Amino acid sequence: MVTEDLQRMVIAIDGTAGSGKSSTSRGVATRLGLRYLDSGAMYRAMTWQMLLDGVDVDDSEAVAARAETVRLESGTDPRDPSIRLSAADVSEQIRFAETTKAVSAVSAVPRVRQLLVDQQRAIIGIGGIVIEGRDIGTVVAPDAELKIYLVADPSARAARRSAELSDGQRQDVSTVQTDLISRDTHDSSRATSPLRAADDAVVIDSTDLALDAVITTIVGLVKDRLDE
Ligand code: DC
Repeated sequence: MVTEDLQRMVIAIDGTAGSGKSSTSRGVATRLGLRYLDSGAMYRAMTWQMLLDGVDVDDSEAVAARAETVRLESGTDPRDPSIRLSAADVSEQIRFAETTKAVSAVSAVPRVRQLLVDQQRAIIGIGGIVIEGRDIGTVVAPDAELKIYLVADPSARAARRSAELSDGQRQDVSTVQTDLISRDTHDSSRATSPLRAADDAVVIDSTDLALDAVITTIVGLVKDRLDE
């Protein structure tokens, strides 16, 4: 593998909630020695800031105004990803059920997307990164060398998400499934950057695949691209 080419590569991994994007993206980045960015964590942190400040998340003008001065920092180590708001670690708060419930409304606000897409592009820089989200292959990095679109059956996705939640945040699988279907609908039907596969994305269905198998498939695709 040509290391310099790999260090400039951008690997975009998009897909629905609970399709295994985070574990897959972190695994691919770790195996290839690349940086990792969770763009969903940035939308979640923005949402947490709105909740902290009592901003009505359905008031898009208020959300857009508050978003202007939010100070967000995203760490890109795939072994220890971090997210900070005004220097405070909010990695737990961004997974709270109240944050999850409000994130689709906040991420539908065009100004929020513009601000975060700018930050994501700055972090991508010259490349050498795996970045996961909903609009990475379509909007954030349309020139990414490899685009993956991960899908899985809703029941498999709900079971995975439920298992990921910490004890205090645990919900039953059917509640998680209803919530993620509602988020998929919201994320796919919003006017700005709706969730969809890029035309040149490789679609991988992870329903019946172990995490390691998905990671190995993507690492194989990266090697193919580098050999081309
Ligand atoms: O990947 P996640 O479930 O942590 O993402 C949380 C929400 O953030 C998701 O419901 C939609 C939004 N999101 C987005 O609009 N664009 C992205 N690139 C990533 C996430």
